Amino acid sequence: MPATVIVGMQWGDEGKAKVLDALAAEIDIVVRYQGGANAGHTVVVGQERYAFHLVPSGILHENKVCVIANGCVVDPQQLVKEIEELRGRGIKVDRTNLLLSERAQLVMPYHKLVDQLSEKRKEEHGQKKIGTTGRGIGPAYVDKVARAGIRVVDLLRPDFVKLRVQQRLSELNPLLTAVYKEKELDADTVTREILSYAGALKPLMADTAAYLNKALADGKRLLFEGAQGTLLDVDHGTYPYVTSSNSTAGGAATGSGVSPRKIETALGIVKAYTTRVGAGPFPTEMHGDAGEALRQKGGEFGVTTGRPRRCGWFDAVCVRYAAEVSGVDALALTKIDVLTGEKELKICTGYKLNGETIDRFPADLHAVEHVEPVYATVPGWEESLADIRAFEDLPPAAQAYVLQIEGLVGTPIRYIGVGKARDALIRRG
Ligand code: GDP
Ligand code: IMO
Ligand code: MG
Repeated sequence: MPATVIVGMQWGDEGKAKVLDALAAEIDIVVRYQGGANAGHTVVVGQERYAFHLVPSGILHENKVCVIANGCVVDPQQLVKEIEELRGRGIKVDRTNLLLSERAQLVMPYHKLVDQLSEKRKEEHGQKKIGTTGRGIGPAYVDKVARAGIRVVDLLRPDFVKLRVQQRLSELNPLLTAVYKEKELDADTVTREILSYAGALKPLMADTAAYLNKALADGKRLLFEGAQGTLLDVDHGTYPYVTSSNSTAGGAATGSGVSPRKIETALGIVKAYTTRVGAGPFPTEMHGDAGEALRQKGGEFGVTTGRPRRCGWFDAVCVRYAAEVSGVDALALTKIDVLTGEKELKICTGYKLNGETIDRFPADLHAVEHVEPVYATVPGWEESLADIRAFEDLPPAAQAYVLQIEGLVGTPIRYIGVGKARDALIRRG
């Protein structure tokens, strides 16, 4: 697999990093291509738990290079903190194993501020919040597209940063004071703060597109680590309750400067049930005690914000749509072990809308909010799956659950996650 992209098939937190980590032996370079520190990617190694936000999840492995590519929005404060924390835990992080695209956009202090103030204001005005992570992601991508952003490479030109900050704040300060009733931001202070990270980041800066294309030509194997999930994609997700980037497979090409013709394989990561953090429609959501029980069993609390994740049954309509949009060749089904002990399991096979059955994820948010899931009810199992490493050793009901999902999505399930640990993965043909 010279170049493979890993994509979340639901609303994020599918276990992307755990699967990536398990596949590390087959990879030379791991690339983050979109999003920023809104991501929370967990890898568990023995008793150690690592939560990655900006640094690609491959950093724990020796002889791998991690790349934060141009499509990402990078909060320098968070990146420097994450690197220092990793170093503090004995992980080597330097130019030999982490490269930062000169073309990536910076998340500025005012992006985080506006993200949080905008959410707060919506709440105060009785409007529906998006439920963002507050990491400045939306405002940073807004500035990128409005051509008002500041890029990593700009950190090498202090006078230019100062000019850009002054320009941006001349528009932003009236908004801060008049609309949000906040104090003005001082351009010199913001400039000084952002430039204080230049020294730490300069050694990592690179033309990562050139690096990746040369690596491919040299026969290196690339793995693109998607963040978020298909239903959070700004084009294909449940807009406006989405993130501000393309988390689907297509984003890997624009977000890295590697041609889509060279990204040959897509692996979809899908949880054996469904979760969502933040607001927005969720057809198979379980409310009350049932949802709470699944949340506790699955440890479904956000890695970035600590918020409880909303939980629900597996939704084949959503995953079929996600598999199509990213053209996934295979799936990794994670957290099936969490379903142990459920007497019966429900799988959503289609939706009913105004009395009619639909098997396609609707674009109209109003429709997504009002669809009624059609469920197939299947038997559960009691056995712990934690130590199982072969599909044939799974209880018959668990095998049947996997096969039913495979049939409904129409994509082979090549990996099955049965625990947090690195080796808790079943490989199938
Ligand atoms: P990501 O954002 O897609 O990388 O996923 P997160 O790290 O946000 O959330 C996935 C959570 O499930 C993490 O706590 C993982 O350690 C855990 N996890 C991943 N795969 C499995 C699995 O197969 N079984 C269990 N029990 N936990 C898993
Ligand atoms: P990983 O990579 C789950 C959600 C937020 C919110 C919406 C917009 O760990 O799967 P944003 O801060 O991006 O503007 O928030 O997107 N969200 C995620 N949900 N996993 C993530 O990342 C997410 N990143 C953003 O909760 O609903
Ligand atoms: Mg996550």
